Amino acid sequence: MQKSEIGLIGLATMGANLARNIANNKFKISVFNRTTEKTTKFIAEYGNEYLVGQEELKDFVKSLKAPRKIILLVKAGWPVDAFIDKLTPLLDKGDLIIDGGNSNYKDTQKRTTALKEKGIEFLGCGVSGGEEGALNGPSLMPGGSKKAYNKVSKILNKIAAKDFNGNPCVTYIGNNGAGHYVKTVHNGIEYGVMQMIAEAYEIFRSVYKLKAPEIAKIFKNYNRGKLKSYLFEITSEVLDRKDQYKKGYLIDYILDKAGQKGTGRWTAIDALERAVALPTVTEAVFARITSGEKDTRKRLNKIYSKAKVKNKIPLNKFISKLGDALYAGMLSSYAQGYHLIQKTAAEEGWEIDLSEVSRIWEGGCIIRADILNFLHKAYAKNQNKHLFEIKDISNGMIKTIPKLREICGYAQSNGVAIPALSTSLAYFEMMTNENSSANLIQGLRDYFGAHTYERTDKKGSYHTEWN
Ligand code: 6PG
Repeated sequence: MQKSEIGLIGLATMGANLARNIANNKFKISVFNRTTEKTTKFIAEYGNEYLVGQEELKDFVKSLKAPRKIILLVKAGWPVDAFIDKLTPLLDKGDLIIDGGNSNYKDTQKRTTALKEKGIEFLGCGVSGGEEGALNGPSLMPGGSKKAYNKVSKILNKIAAKDFNGNPCVTYIGNNGAGHYVKTVHNGIEYGVMQMIAEAYEIFRSVYKLKAPEIAKIFKNYNRGKLKSYLFEITSEVLDRKDQYKKGYLIDYILDKAGQKGTGRWTAIDALERAVALPTVTEAVFARITSGEKDTRKRLNKIYSKAKVKNKIPLNKFISKLGDALYAGMLSSYAQGYHLIQKTAAEEGWEIDLSEVSRIWEGGCIIRADILNFLHKAYAKNQNKHLFEIKDISNGMIKTIPKLREICGYAQSNGVAIPALSTSLAYFEMMTNENSSANLIQGLRDYFGAHTYERTDKKGSYHTEWN
């Protein structure tokens, strides 16, 4: 029997769909799952000359052409290590393992080093697009050695989504953990934008008392303009879905406790460790955590009354202002994520091309949005720019920031928590202010702890005897 071009381990939704995508593109693929039952069922449904299943790991490995290429799509963390440990004795030097899960980039760095010692190549490849993307074309963010990437680039280019110009949404991101790092930041930006969308929904719901399908319509319209993006598109679909069990809309029956698997939190932790400001993502993580405190929220809700709505902005005007505010907020979230990638790339020695990152996020991934097109072009000219410096962005920010300021004040005076929108604004205000108030922080630090300060008029480090 002819050997397979590639193998895939892990037939949960993402793995199953990615395997089908590879087979649909006429690359023969062998699949393996920890439980044979799943493999049998999957092959019974989708098996064909390009898609074959194996029950034993050693047979799976034997079924692959050399150098072997094996994609792991198992739960991030110990299951990845467990499979690597099982696989390595069966592999030869020059074989390649590709981890397509949402792994922590630090784990990817460790695995790359450990496998290199055994002569086995390793790629940490971010895969974005959910189930649908995995099947019809994800955005792919592979990191590892260029040599390893070249071994699978043909397949990755074939299965990826397409950017705005019809090119595959895949590019070599950089060494060791770079691919998983960029995917993590992608998810962080995703958290920030989703939180701002949820805040907008909350204002419509609690201040304007709009019903889910009415809000869905507003989001549908937002998605026709400058906010055009996958997340806005699916927001209107989620809000418009009728419940299958009861009268009304599904959204009103979904419990308000947000889950999280870790990538948003990792992005925030990494930013804190590197001392890079990433407040929108961080607030989005905190908001999910706070949402989990349902019982406490329930108790406290009984003690405190909500702010009474004063001087409502007419709905039509509000919709337009909020659209601008969301645009400014979304740009702020992207700006923070891009800045984090720039700083990390410099620290880690990764040559991450932000123009390419923007390009491969144009299609397939969860944060795909029209704005990525001008980021793609702008970063082709200058990699070091802060996103707020890019002409199309600064023009957009100058127009929309006044609305973000107005909306933040309005929402807060109406008692609506808008942590992501307000911190996106604060980030903008601080990053675009040459004279911050940190001089006072320095004065206070020096007062109580003799921590010293620098001066504006001469070099050096100074301490004052305050008492
Ligand atoms: C994607 C998604 C995907 C997933 C994340 C986020 O790019 O396809 O980001 O990776 O939805 O795991 O999940 P949580 O919200 O559970 O952290």
